Amino acid sequence: MTIDSLNWGDLSPEKFLAEYWQKKPLIIKQAFTDFQDTISADELAGLAMEAEIESRIVSVDSNKNWQVDHGPFEDFSKYGESQWTLLVQAVNNWSRPTHALLSPFAFIPNWRIDDVMVSFSTPNGGVGPHLDQYDVFILQGSGKRRWQVGAPDNNLKTLLPHADLKQVSSFTPIIDEVTEAGDLLYIPPNHPHNGVSLENSVNFSIGFQAPSSQDLWSSFADKLIDKNLGEQRFSDPDRNVSKQSHIISQQDKQQLKSFMLEQMSNDVLFEEFIGQYLTQGHHALEILVPVKDIDEDKLQDILSEPDILFMPVSGLKAAIIDDNQTTLFINGESFLLDDETVALAEHLALQTPLTTLEVKTFMTSLKNTQLLTSVLNKGYWYIE
Ligand code: SIN
Ligand code: CO
Repeated sequence: MTIDSLNWGDLSPEKFLAEYWQKKPLIIKQAFTDFQDTISADELAGLAMEAEIESRIVSVDSNKNWQVDHGPFEDFSKYGESQWTLLVQAVNNWSRPTHALLSPFAFIPNWRIDDVMVSFSTPNGGVGPHLDQYDVFILQGSGKRRWQVGAPDNNLKTLLPHADLKQVSSFTPIIDEVTEAGDLLYIPPNHPHNGVSLENSVNFSIGFQAPSSQDLWSSFADKLIDKNLGEQRFSDPDRNVSKQSHIISQQDKQQLKSFMLEQMSNDVLFEEFIGQYLTQGHHALEILVPVKDIDEDKLQDILSEPDILFMPVSGLKAAIIDDNQTTLFINGESFLLDDETVALAEHLALQTPLTTLEVKTFMTSLKNTQLLTSVLNKGYWYIE
């Protein structure tokens, strides 16, 4: 199944960004016609049995006692037929068809997307009314679920029915709809929402990420430390006599601020930092490092076999910054580019599989061979 086209109806990506993105929730009925789940409930349960994959089961009993269990799970039989939801993070890192669900959202850059979380809910299952700090598109797969979404409201109370479950008090919905396969809900940050399953139901949550200023500053400081930068001391050779020695003057304050911001205004450093920071994954990937490094000769051998496909690991984060220094970033690592390597790097960043023929055209340049073997040896791309 290909899922390239989203039926926007009267909307378009431009209108969506102007009117809804980060502003108000939206439901698009039948955004995807004939939508079929990209992963079965059984396969999802299989992923929840793996230790490196983050999963949880949220259940509620008839007395409104909420329970949260964290994976890996060995057995699901104790949960019965209703009132529970299994949620599995970053399913797109393990299921390529699920990763493909991101392609209709390419009107927003990759770096803004975190993962595709998939949930399987039984009748009356859900995580209860809550807020999220991030934007999310929730795509209904098989089954039906009642979704209610409200407007941000400072009067909502935070509830903790379980130590691992943050909910909010009841809210007035501005969207109240039963979703069916192919329906798409958009929820901006801090909008209360609640999805209650009417029957066994699968939901795909395309979750976004937005760094906090605190995270950015602290990671930037780590970068300075890693690179032994910013070790010089504040200096003040033009100092005037201080008339009030107990005061930190406005001039001193300004000079200290500019001294700190000097690091941030180093554009080459900032590009390296931001590219690495934004392409770092937050969830385990299926990385397979080759047992023995692939060198130029080995690559030539591989290329002599027919029907080889070079594939990126599913869910890999990659981007190019083409500004002061053209650089390819993959999984938090940087690869400096030049005129010879930029075309191959475009493929690597867009993550379109490469055929033998395509790879052969790139291999006329040693720099391209080095770039490709390097991503293969790190296990970011593999040969199928
Ligand atoms: C879900 O239950 O599928 C999504 C939970 C959420 O609203 O974040
Ligand atoms: Co939510």
